[in-house]
Amino acid sequence: MLNTFFNEISTDSIIEPARSKNNIAIHKRKSKKNLPDSKITIEYIKKLGLERKESNLNYLIKLFYEDFDIEIKREIVSSIGRQKQNDKIYDFLSKEAFNNHYMEVVYQMFRTALYKSKNDDRFIFLRDKMLEYYKNEVMQKMFEYYEFKQERKTIKPEPKQIIKPSLLIGDNRITLGKIKDKQIQLIFTSPPYYNARIYSDYKSYQDYLNSMFETLKQCHRILEDGRFIIINVSPVITKRAGREFESIRYPIHFDFHKILQEAGFYFIDEIIWIKSEYSVPNRIAGYLQTKKPLSYKPNCITESIMVYRKNSPFLLDKNIKAYNKNLKNDEQIDSTNCWHISPKSDKNHPAVFPEELCQKVLKYYSFENDIVCDPFAGSGTFGKVAIKMNRMPLLCEQNKEYCEKLKKSGFYEI
Ligand SMILES: C[S@@+](CC[C@H](N)C(=O)[O-])C[C@H]1O[C@@H](n2cnc3c(N)ncnc32)[C@H](O)[C@@H]1O
Repeated sequence: MLNTFFNEISTDSIIEPARSKNNIAIHKRKSKKNLPDSKITIEYIKKLGLERKESNLNYLIKLFYEDFDIEIKREIVSSIGRQKQNDKIYDFLSKEAFNNHYMEVVYQMFRTALYKSKNDDRFIFLRDKMLEYYKNEVMQKMFEYYEFKQERKTIKPEPKQIIKPSLLIGDNRITLGKIKDKQIQLIFTSPPYYNARIYSDYKSYQDYLNSMFETLKQCHRILEDGRFIIINVSPVITKRAGREFESIRYPIHFDFHKILQEAGFYFIDEIIWIKSEYSVPNRIAGYLQTKKPLSYKPNCITESIMVYRKNSPFLLDKNIKAYNKNLKNDEQIDSTNCWHISPKSDKNHPAVFPEELCQKVLKYYSFENDIVCDPFAGSGTFGKVAIKMNRMPLLCEQNKEYCEKLKKSGFYEI
């Protein structure tokens, strides 16, 4: 059946790509004569790919130069990669891998170069050339995944260092040094907001970010590969030094994105914590009095819950598979990234987590018996909820008063 179809193809409908002024390949079909387009579906191309035959390879290469949509083209390249005739495939890729194709098509070419590099050095050369030429993050990640797979590495659980609810007293940039690598399965924290509350005092915003970066590097070291770090932040404003000066508002979450990336984490999600309007400072009053354009300052009822994952050369499935397959959450879910939670006030601490927020984070991003850490623990809400949910908490706090209270509520200094 396939061969019959192959014989029906008229070669005059197959052409080499034309060139634009800037040498960009324009893949246009001259004529649709004799080409039964309707038969060329993704399934059909897949079938050709699975039936490993030289005639199929020749045909697939010819089809590549036809004017198909990107999905089909991608499948053609994937099916070419499945074939055995490396000489022909190498010639094809050497020419086309640098020929301004859509990146989705290029990724398939790169995939072939990766898999064939195992037994054929020419593809190592091609793979490295493509990495160098594109400097593309998707390809870099594909390369790391592939290398990891070749080494057949598994995630070996580290011997557990934290076996009771624990507390590190002092500056977390130093105290976290006591914790061995990859001990922690989840980090959730609300860092001190830059000079916004009594407990934080930095020389400058850059000084604040540098300090946060140091903590994040420690977090990266102690977190198990592939696990989550979740940061709760929102913009802060510093008080005006006088009526003649403007106050500065800092978009802390934007800058945290940068330092999280630099520390070795990548973006997964932003969850928006939504509070009721009566619970937040009133910023709109000035505008309401004057109704002057430009003076608009809306009441801020949201905070960011920034969800990041530690860079790892494997999929999340690998982390999940490390647990008993019967472990599952209850039926109740938050199906959107907007969580409506009332804020909590506390007479002892100016910025405590509501328990419900901690419950949700623990539920969606950790398993029972995991070791979970809050490096800026404050009153220790996260740690206390973690115990209730059968997780083992590690807290860090530098304020002596809060630490005394934490020790009294069952956290052991280590
Ligand atoms: C926003 S509060 C956390 C509040 C906490 N989520 C709660 O529920 O109480 C930040 C805490 O980090 C502490 N802190 C600030 N810098 C620190 C550092 N370098 N090491 C340890 N703790 C620090 C502060 O003392 C403060 O209690």
